[in-house]
Amino acid sequence: MRPAERGGRLAGKVAAITGGASGIGAGTARRFHAEGARVLIADLQEGPGRALAEELGEGAEFVRTDVTREEDVAALADRAVERHGALDVMFNNAGIMGALGPVDRTRMADADLTIAVNLRGVLCGMKHAARVMKPRRSGAIISTSSPAGIVGGVGPHVYSAVKAGIVGLSGSVAAELRRYGVRSNVIVPGAVVSAMTAGLVAGGAADLAGAEAALDGTKYMDRPLRPADVAAAALYLASDEAALVTGVVLPVDAGMTGAGGPSPFATGKYEEPTFK
Ligand SMILES: NC(=O)c1ccc[n+]([C@@H]2O[C@H](COP(=O)([O-])OP(=O)(O)OC[C@H]3O[C@@H](n4cnc5c(N)ncnc54)[C@H](O)[C@@H]3O)[C@@H](O)[C@H]2O)c1
Repeated sequence: MRPAERGGRLAGKVAAITGGASGIGAGTARRFHAEGARVLIADLQEGPGRALAEELGEGAEFVRTDVTREEDVAALADRAVERHGALDVMFNNAGIMGALGPVDRTRMADADLTIAVNLRGVLCGMKHAARVMKPRRSGAIISTSSPAGIVGGVGPHVYSAVKAGIVGLSGSVAAELRRYGVRSNVIVPGAVVSAMTAGLVAGGAADLAGAEAALDGTKYMDRPLRPADVAAAALYLASDEAALVTGVVLPVDAGMTGAGGPSPFATGKYEEPTFK
């Protein structure tokens, strides 16, 4: 059955998802497709990207895209319009951890690549989404930031900087685009079981079970976050239910950024109900 005929919260919509071949992007492609959207899986990784498109079937296609190349991102937006008549949702989600280590040993070439993928790539996605969304006076742009962009000390330096940059960029773009009916919002996923975290905390990018076990040790609630948790938030922001939601930064992080602690003042450690 064609996606639009299946109904769902995104019935009839067309969504491009960068970084769509793996992790959060792949989870979102699956959910969007299940909710009736036609999805363009945009990624550098051809094998997993094509396999996912094949698994999803009609209404899903892989479009090889390097977000550091403006011509690729422009072609992605154009393909959505030419093939499907519109681009309704642009999920700027492709990202890399990039430059690691102490600031005084930062390799500038690594920093440049981190900025090119994680911030310039998002800007490029916003630019070409806006180009095709503004004339239709409709569209939803979603971009993936990180807790590292909100608080210090939870990610690499350059990664933290560019993830903070996404928050500033999205708010600025939201302010411009709201008069065209185009929304721009940010999702802040906590530590999610994916190839990215598996490469850092487990036995390599493919070791998702190892990542799940490692992240279980640092979880904020009863289980680690999974791509489907982030996809559910992206679904809301992409859907018409969020018609007047723009300029927001939505953490899906089990309270990592918004609820640190718990504070000893709030856990019954002190017997007096008030401190005078
Ligand atoms: N996993 C986490 O804990 C976590 C937490 C916060 C934010 N994020 C962010 O979520 C996003 C997705 O990460 P993930 O955990 O799903 O990782 P992932 O490694 O599973 O997926 C990232 C995808 O981006 C693709 N990609 C990388 N460079 C690209 C480029 N130049 N052009 C196109 N595609 C490119 C990769 O091929 C990969 O398929 C990233 O922006 C990441 O920074 C992840």
